[in-house]
Amino acid sequence: MGVKIAGYGYYVPEKVVTNHDMEKLMDTSDEWITERTGIKERHFVKVGEEGTSDLAVKAAEKALDKAGMTSGDLDMIVAATLSPDHEIPGIGVMIQNKLTGCRTIPAYDIRQQCSGFVYGLELASTFIKSGKYKTILLVGAEVQSVGLNLSTEGRDLAVLFGDGAGAFVLTASEDESDVLDSVLHSEGEYYQALWKEYPSIYVQDRISKEDITLGRHYPSMNGRFVFKHASTRMPEVVMELLNKNSVSKDEIAQIIPHQANLRITQMVANRLELTLDTVYSNIERYGNTTAASIPIAFCEALNEKRFKRGDYVITVSFGSGFTWGANLIKF
Ligand code: ACO
Repeated sequence: MGVKIAGYGYYVPEKVVTNHDMEKLMDTSDEWITERTGIKERHFVKVGEEGTSDLAVKAAEKALDKAGMTSGDLDMIVAATLSPDHEIPGIGVMIQNKLTGCRTIPAYDIRQQCSGFVYGLELASTFIKSGKYKTILLVGAEVQSVGLNLSTEGRDLAVLFGDGAGAFVLTASEDESDVLDSVLHSEGEYYQALWKEYPSIYVQDRISKEDITLGRHYPSMNGRFVFKHASTRMPEVVMELLNKNSVSKDEIAQIIPHQANLRITQMVANRLELTLDTVYSNIERYGNTTAASIPIAFCEALNEKRFKRGDYVITVSFGSGFTWGANLIKF
């Protein structure tokens, strides 16, 4: 059984937050952010007006529309996010509820942070290839803005992230498959290199005032360590996937990497001896949207005619966990 990418779409909230807007919130500068990351602006939700599942549903509706389908055609939802609307339950069921006409289909939530969409594509494709499910909505969606420390204390992380969502509608196909293969990895040894310590199962009481003062309820990161691993693991897993499938690097029309940092993307391109013509970047306009970055970049690269039907495309990610992986697509 083959897997067709029948539809794709993305949505970002209207509100644009530029680096100059960030300068008003914390001790940072457009120059610092641009030089270190390539980011010029990102989109943030208006707090209280939109949640992660709302962004997901808007992206899903576009993907369904593109596929010429309705939510009644779906027989599974796979939703990747590290920022669900609520701690319990996840956004899979929120999406099921908000998509008008959606039946009581299974709804998965997966994590895997920046690798959520790449992991999700392997999961959803495998379900379809098994023959048990025919049409799956795969969504990556994040509202990062409300969970960040938007002050000078949190500036190393706060300037990196943005909100958004992207979706694929995947269907079973008797013809050739669009989704050919995936390689996934994890290395939990480094879970504290990029994490949010609290809330934690190890803490029975409420978070103390001291913990809050120390910012243990905000995400924290060893930026240089993450940078080093991301820029090594992504080219490595691309080569692993290509070699496994006997596809040469020169046959790839476009590599869509997770959008973490323009310097990481440049390093991935350098290590693969490619240029940014082949390795896509749109981080300038969105920042790092975690699980949403790959489907947003996929849609924009397609709109920009970076690739067309029949071309080989690779999606590749690295993120907290550590988790990383790549998908080989013949779109
Ligand atoms: N504005 C101004 N100054 C800042 C800011 C900011 N927003 N953030 C940190 N600084 C300061 C630091 O305090 C430090 O000051 P000091 O020298 O006085 O101590 C100085 O800038 C330099 O900091 P470095 O850590 O050396 O900066 P570096 O060149 O490593 O860049 C960055 C930091 C951009 C975070 C980089 O390490 C990085 O991109 N890492 C990858 C992390 C990443 O992408 N994470 C996202 C999730 S994982 C993923 O998506 C792959």
